[in-house]
Amino acid sequence: MEIKLELLPEEKRGRLSVHKNLPFGRIFTDHMFFMFYREEEGWQGACIKPYEPICLDPAAVVFHYSQTIFEGLKAYYGVDGRIRLFRPERNMARMNRSARRMCMPQIDEDFVLKALKKLVAIEREWIPREKGSALYIRPLMMGTEAFLGVKPSSEYIFFIILSPVGAYYKEGFNPVTIYITDKYVRAAPGGVGDVKTGGNYAASLMASEEAKRLGYTQVLWLDAVERRYVEEVGTMNIFFYFEDELATPALTGTILPGITRESVIQMAKDWGIPVKERRISIEEVLEGAESGRLKECFGTGTAAVISPVGCLAYKGKEYVINKGQTGPLARRLFEELTGIQYGEKPDPYGWIQFVP
Ligand code: COI
Repeated sequence: MEIKLELLPEEKRGRLSVHKNLPFGRIFTDHMFFMFYREEEGWQGACIKPYEPICLDPAAVVFHYSQTIFEGLKAYYGVDGRIRLFRPERNMARMNRSARRMCMPQIDEDFVLKALKKLVAIEREWIPREKGSALYIRPLMMGTEAFLGVKPSSEYIFFIILSPVGAYYKEGFNPVTIYITDKYVRAAPGGVGDVKTGGNYAASLMASEEAKRLGYTQVLWLDAVERRYVEEVGTMNIFFYFEDELATPALTGTILPGITRESVIQMAKDWGIPVKERRISIEEVLEGAESGRLKECFGTGTAAVISPVGCLAYKGKEYVINKGQTGPLARRLFEELTGIQYGEKPDPYGWIQFVP
């Protein structure tokens, strides 16, 4: 399929004037990638066009039954002036995995990645130059057939929008505080907890708001069956650095398979740190925080990068980790990861793809 270009004339295009302290996800670039799907014809109409509102029938499936999936990745402006993407092929593969689970059509991963690179290249003036900032890339697919029966949509749209962003949390790389909820659950076995679908995020809002009201940055979820085993944080996977190992919850179907998570596991293993993907009970974590066996705790995610956790709150009690400071492992992972992403360090894993 060809990608039609309908670009704004040069004089009508914006550019980023401030590169520091950017908000997360509030500024959008001039153009977007767009295509649509019809059951009989497949994907068509691929184009890069001015960023604009989408007009949908009020009966569109997505409004009523949330048949929608998305991805999140970033383009980094490197120290050498080259534009880097971090493992974008993993996002494309995850999107197709999400699509299968939500009964949505597959995308051609190579084609969409090519379109994504083309869009980023067109919008290069929007990429923040400051380290720690990046161009956040949001691909999204939704069911648009106008029909109120519950069945997979026969029509879809897919688009990619871009947003220059700074740190996701106001804390930046400083430790966040996390509220552990035993009242709400995020995902149950057999559900869609491992799928990047909008409904998971809508369902998380109540607990997040409660945590914020109590003064915490985010929520940590426990498993839905026993409310005992750690799952993930609002927008991140979670890691615990115990004296003898780095542990993270195993991917049992209720946790998002994070690409930063996968990369952290690989780097830590290569540094000789024993890494275990396993069940981690909340008692083990809290006892570890009290005894000092738990040396560090941090979250990982595309938006959040590596986010140290300085304090966990559970049943009215606060547990401070590493004196509320960023630990050496979180710092080393952050520096290695961002070093690769911004081209300051070699890329031994071949994780980077360049935008021409
Ligand atoms: C990301 O880390 O890219 C995410 O998808 C989190 C997002 C919901 C802000």
